[in-house]
This record gives sequence, C-alpha cells and structure tokens, in this order.
Amino acid sequence: MAKAKTKFVCQNCGYVSPKYLGRCPNCGVWNQMVEEVERSETAKASATPSRRVSDLTSKPVKIGDVSFEKEPRVKTQMGELNRVLGGGIVPGSLILIGGDPGIGKSTLLTQVSGQLANTGGKVLYVSGEESASQIKMRADRLGITGDDLYLYPQTDMSYIRQTIDDMHPDYLIIDSVQTMDEPEITSAVGSISQIREVTAELMNIAKQQNITIFVVGHVTKGGAIAGPKILEHMVDTVLYFEGDTNHSYRILRSVKNRFGSTNEIGIFEMQTKGLIEVANPSEIFLEERLVDANGSAVVVSMEGTRPILVEIQSLITPTVFGNAKRTATGLDHNRVSVIMAVLEKRGNLMLQNQDAYLKSTGGVKLDEPAIDLALAMSIVSSYKNMGISGTDCFVGEVGLTGEVRRVNRIDQRVNEAEKLGFKRIFIPKNNLGDWSKKNKIQIIGVSTVADAMHKIF
Ligand code: TYD
Ligand code: MG
Repeated sequence: MAKAKTKFVCQNCGYVSPKYLGRCPNCGVWNQMVEEVERSETAKASATPSRRVSDLTSKPVKIGDVSFEKEPRVKTQMGELNRVLGGGIVPGSLILIGGDPGIGKSTLLTQVSGQLANTGGKVLYVSGEESASQIKMRADRLGITGDDLYLYPQTDMSYIRQTIDDMHPDYLIIDSVQTMDEPEITSAVGSISQIREVTAELMNIAKQQNITIFVVGHVTKGGAIAGPKILEHMVDTVLYFEGDTNHSYRILRSVKNRFGSTNEIGIFEMQTKGLIEVANPSEIFLEERLVDANGSAVVVSMEGTRPILVEIQSLITPTVFGNAKRTATGLDHNRVSVIMAVLEKRGNLMLQNQDAYLKSTGGVKLDEPAIDLALAMSIVSSYKNMGISGTDCFVGEVGLTGEVRRVNRIDQRVNEAEKLGFKRIFIPKNNLGDWSKKNKIQIIGVSTVADAMHKIF
C-alpha cells in the first residue's frame, strides 16, 4: 500500500483541506480538522461502480445499441432479504447493515453465510467481537453446517486483506466495522477516520476482486450508524435492522440501494432457532387485535411496494391534573398533534382537556400520510366510546381543513384489505375513480373527517 500525502478532514461534515484549519470553512465547527492519509482518494476513485460499466461507456453509445444483459443477482434462501436488496445480492456490492445491539445482526449474517456457503459460495466471516468458538456456538444453535464457511476472529485490516488475497472468498462478512483497525491510521479503533478508511478499503476489495461484502455497523443513541454520514454515501446499500428487543419481530429496512428501490422492508421473527421469515406480515400485526374494541382502527399502509395492515390504537381519557398528555409509540408525535387539532376544529370534538395515548401495534413505525384517516378514526372511537367494526379499515391523508386527500397505490391497498377478509374500506373520495375491476370488499369514499365520522359512528 503506497503511503501518500496527508489531508485534513472535518470530522463533522467531511470537508477536506490540504492544510490544517482551526475552524471548518464549510460547517463552521472548531477544532474538528483531523489529519488523514490521502490514500482514500484512490480508494474512493475505485469505489465508484464505474469500473464495471467502463467497458461499455468508454465512448458514447446510443441507448438502443447498449446490449442488455440481465443483472446477475444471487438469490439467498431468504425471500425477505432478497426483497430488501431489490431482488437478490448483486455480486461485488458493499452492503452495510446497521442496528441496535442485540437486535440480531450477527444472527442474520450467520444464517445468510450458512446458506451462501451451502449454495456454492465461499464465505469468510470476520468477527472483531466474538471468538471462533462463540460464533460456532451460535452457528450450531442455528443449525448451520456448510464446508465453505470460514470463521476468522480478527480486527487488523492488513491480516484480513492478506487472508482475502490467499483465500479468494466470494462473500466477506465484517462484524463490525467499528472494531476493525487499519494499522496505518494512528487514530483509535472506532474513530471516524478509522471507520472511513476501513470502509474505503472494503469498497476497494469489493470492486476490484468482485467480492460481495456485508458490513455490520453499530448505531449511535440517536439511531444513525456510528461514523459520519459519509459512510452511508460510500457503500452501495444501507439496510437497517430494527425492532423492539421486547418483541420477537424484526424489520429489515432498506434506506439506500444503488441496485434497487428503497423503502422496502423484510419482516423476520426471532425464535430460538434464529430468524424465521414472516411471509404474511399483515396477519401477525393484526393477530392480537381485540375485534370491535374502542379506539382501534386498522390502516392499510404501504411499506415500500408492499401493503401492510396495521392496527392503530388510541386511548383518550380526561386529564385529571395539569396539562393534557400526548404520547405516541410508533407514530409521529407531530402528526398526532395535527390530527387532534383538526378533529377539534373540524369535527367538533373537545380534545384539549383529554390525555391521548396512541400506538401502532407490533412494533412497526408508521410514517406515511395515508395513515391519517385511521389515526383520526381511532381517536374519535376512543373519545366517543364507540367501537369501529372489526372488518372496517381506512386509508387517507387528512389536510388541515379536514379534507381527506388522495393517496397513492390505492388499488394494491384495497386488494390487500380484501385478501385479509375486511368487508369495508374507507378511502378518499378522489381515489374512487381509480380502478375498473369489481371488488368484493365494499369501497366507501369519504371527503372530510366529518363525513367519515358521520358514516362510521
Ligand atoms: P445477535 O445476532 O448477537 O445481535 P447483534 O449482532 O445485532 O448484536 O443477537 C442477539 C440476540 O438474539 C440475543 O439476545 C439472543 C437472540 N437470539 C435468539 O433469540 N435466537 C437465536 O437463535 C440466536 C442466535 C439469538
Ligand atoms: Mg453481533
């Protein structure tokens, strides 16, 4: 590895300067310029996926003349993972998996490694956190065999590089990037410079040797992957593995994908034998529902390209003392406040002296505008102590004047609700003309929240 010039990088925003500066001219933060080895420039150059397409684009080609080869994707045996990756693993890509400690990142990657090793791939599992025997213990529990799975407890990148050159694995797992050490960098393991350098190095390996690399990244308290945002910019795909450690459901979410759509989710259940895929998520999210209970409303929310039915629960009780409380779990706090204000003004409900507790069940986070109508109806239902029929569901965005606004993918939402046996779906009136097919489910258009309240209660 050629040692080259050094540069100074702002640890806050990533601004690069050839000389030391006390204050970053880009973001204005003091004392954050840290000296780094220039080598990452070459790493960055080869980190762009241009290498693979360069043969084709060396001179301009008419779009019609580009011979189209189907993207080679490796399908794992986990359909949910394939979905999140946009249809399977693209060979030579660098995939970052972030998540809270104990959520199951190592478990997921151990299972994937086992499957890949069983289907003809050579897998090198580098762990900086566990010894080989500890990984083996987990693998045994998960029932993973596979001759071509190699465990390698190591944190020193120079040894890892050497091993890769000797072994030529097809897949490399780095668990985790924060424990890896690039010996040429003087700063501490886990520091921003180390993480950046290690990632650049891995990108280099992925693109030059066409090795698919999965990298585990810890997340900070704030929920972002530790290290600068630049880390997410460098890699091809960023997945977040989330869920409530108190629940057994885990959601794998794609937030960046150079080779597929983002906002796809995959749902798993953590069991004693590892992670099991959940093929029909709506059923599990509605499983424990008390049908016809006050304050419960079902929404058809789109998670990526997949419609999922989730129950929204509200509990509205008179405030006994002081200011009214508002808590929301799995829902955006601001959205809840806005909807309550709209109901107050446009639905003539007296909510200001009521405590409100809201949650989405099953540990899913709902943050789509189309959940507004269900949110509103669940609040009204609890406030009025009147249940909503267990076979009703809702879709619609609510505006500040109380109007129910049009949502996207209405067709898919209606079909999913019908598939799960719902009898009525309330949708925005403007969405009514959107399809021609005859549905079994009764479709009811509503124009305002007041209109919806009138039709339901
Ligand atoms: P782990 O993969 O070590 O989490 P991470 O790498 O994200 O920190 O998973 C840790 C949790 O998963 C641990 O609390 C135990 C649980 N678990 C199971 O419930 N079943 C299993 O088969 C395995 C391997 C782990
Ligand atoms: Mg782990």
